[in-house]
Amino acid sequence: MVDAYLEGLLAPEDGALAAAREAAEAAGVLPIHVTPLQGKFLQVLARGVGARRVLEVGTLAGYSAIWLARALPDGGRVVTIEVDPVAAQVARANIKRAGLQGRVEVRLGRAMEVLPTLEGGEPFDFVFIDADKEGYAEYLEWAIQLGRPGTVVVADNVVRGGAVADAASRDPRVLGVRAFLDKVATDPRVTAVALQTVGAKGHDGFAVAVVR
Ligand code: SAH
Ligand code: DHB
Ligand code: MG
Repeated sequence: MVDAYLEGLLAPEDGALAAAREAAEAAGVLPIHVTPLQGKFLQVLARGVGARRVLEVGTLAGYSAIWLARALPDGGRVVTIEVDPVAAQVARANIKRAGLQGRVEVRLGRAMEVLPTLEGGEPFDFVFIDADKEGYAEYLEWAIQLGRPGTVVVADNVVRGGAVADAASRDPRVLGVRAFLDKVATDPRVTAVALQTVGAKGHDGFAVAVVR
């Protein structure tokens, strides 16, 4: 399969990433993390924009945070927000095992409560939105507030097997993603694109926005 071929070539997991996945499974945390190639995609983008400060909304067990933290130069930082205390605890252990505890800060709480506490710090260069889909439009607003011109915002799961194109959908996750896409399409403070993906996690997609 193509995903396995590309993963073996471009995004092989090391021990810390594999252990992070296994620890999540052992703790009963759902396996809804990004795939290795998606993690590498985030890492390449973050490296490409020279990100020093990364914000993630939706930590789960820290799998994507590990990929992102490895994109950063010395002194770089990932701040990642997680509402589920079990997932956050597994994430902290996974990040420590990966030797990244000095670089990744897991903030426990609802994103809409934690995000305002980040105001007044240095701007974030890169933002990954991957929590509850109902909140995506609000998380984008915070990404803009906490970013600067040039900040790159990536949002996961914007296609969901094609359901996003169903204008009659009443699925709150689909409605949340559609509200997010409407906002990136019309808000003059960003320019954005979305791409369908097909791979180990089925037919889904990423949106990528840049703050102007
Ligand atoms: N980025 C992770 C996967 C995140 S899954 C990875 O790829 O490894 C989505 C996560 O968002 C779940 O852990 C869920 O508990 C969390 N979440 C859902 N709603 C949230 C909210 N309102 N605030 C913070 N985290 C939330
Ligand atoms: C699912 C996948 C995700 O990447 C996510 O962020 C949330 C849910 C899922 O497959 O249900
Ligand atoms: Mg996701």
